[in-house]
Amino acid sequence: MKNIILIGFMGAGKTTVGQELSQLTGLALINLDDEIIKKIKMPIHQFFKEYGEEAFRVIEEELLEKFSHQPIILATGGGVVVRLNNRMILQKGQTVLLDASIKTLIQRIREDKTTIRPLAVNSSDEEITQLFETRKMFYQQSARLIVKTDDKNAQEVASEIIKNLKDNFENLPQ
Ligand code: S3P
Repeated sequence: MKNIILIGFMGAGKTTVGQELSQLTGLALINLDDEIIKKIKMPIHQFFKEYGEEAFRVIEEELLEKFSHQPIILATGGGVVVRLNNRMILQKGQTVLLDASIKTLIQRIREDKTTIRPLAVNSSDEEITQLFETRKMFYQQSARLIVKTDDKNAQEVASEIIKNLKDNFENLPQ
């Protein structure tokens, strides 16, 4: 199936690379966090505060199941890999890990003033690093393709992904 699922830690660039991929492939971009926000009708950080992370993960899993079967570019949230069922869904799809050093990720998280990330906003660099370490294996296990994004812009990352997956996008310009 012609779809791409983007995974990676917070700050990996899933949304911006997703936008580039959407342009290159003509497939619609769906951002899983935005779909969750539509459903919960409040910002994610507020939902975390009122209902907790587990309640968030239940909705995230439900929506991943729904969107993983569609011909779209799907940008996921950084914690999508923590559930075993989600990792199994991701393994079956055309899942691409946007990988970067923790130094780059923390820098991008701190620079992004538009998103309040409940699992990073009040955390020290050490705590964010620890969270990254607990998930690292899960990201690697869930992806079919791993792309390093340090020192690359979104366009470069997107072209690299298309080049690697081009058998499935044979009608696109080379
Ligand atoms: C989360 C990452 C966020 C969002 C939520 C939880 C996580 O998405 O889903 O705040 O657990 O890493 P981004 O990776 O787009 O920041």
